[in-house]
Amino acid sequence: MLSLLEKKGKNEKITMLTAYDYLSAKAVDEAGIDVILVGDSLAMVVLGLEDTLSVSLDEMLVFTKAVSRAAKNALVLSDMPFGSYEGCEYEALKNATRFIKEGRANAVKLEGGEEICKSIEMISKAKIPVVAHLGLTPQAINALGGYKVQGKNYEAAQKLLKDSRAVESAGASMLVLECVPTKLAQKITQELKIPTIGIGAGKYCDGQVLVYHDLLGINEDFKPKFVKRYANFNPKEAVKEYIKEVKGGIFPSADFSFDLDDEWLDKLY
Ligand code: KIV
Repeated sequence: MLSLLEKKGKNEKITMLTAYDYLSAKAVDEAGIDVILVGDSLAMVVLGLEDTLSVSLDEMLVFTKAVSRAAKNALVLSDMPFGSYEGCEYEALKNATRFIKEGRANAVKLEGGEEICKSIEMISKAKIPVVAHLGLTPQAINALGGYKVQGKNYEAAQKLLKDSRAVESAGASMLVLECVPTKLAQKITQELKIPTIGIGAGKYCDGQVLVYHDLLGINEDFKPKFVKRYANFNPKEAVKEYIKEVKGGIFPSADFSFDLDDEWLDKLY
């Protein structure tokens, strides 16, 4: 976390990507990413759930362990799932500790502002780095009434700024800003000492985060405005080609098969 703070000081951008499994985490780590986020977006991306609300702490731990095994240089940050930190700070600390002890994560992320500051304080005082998450907070989807840009009017922008100051004062080491107008994210970034990481929050944040599958263009049905695809992975096309080749007797050709000496073959009875 210290090195990320230094990056902010030196005006060096921080890079963050999600990964949920060993091989993706290995690729992301070896490519040189600063932070791997085991996001609760895995609820939708991996588990096929409707939103992030139902994923459990035990499920998050399975993925965190896989990612931690792969991460040799990147910091591993895990999302604390809905219901694991909001009500009681002691419960929050107990659950955060599991991510460090069992999951081998380096830090945890919590969604919310002033209302969760007691939990942020408790966890950070236990020497577990905490990342806060403001703006569009998917765990609050029922209260927000949909996946919309946040902080668009004066009151909402002022509340976001106040919440940003509050989470920093409570001990957060970094702040994710999701779907926030560029100029508001810029103001928050200038005000705070801790780094801000944007997703749909414009270019002035101290760093950026994207979902790995979105960056690869794997999910053709999902393309929000803030996602840039850096590849056009089309799993469906690859699978169609495989089906065609198997049916047509093209795969496996000799290149993909193992030989047996005819001499031995003739001796078989
Ligand atoms: O769960 C997630 O992937 C996230 C990012 C969108 C920041 O929280």
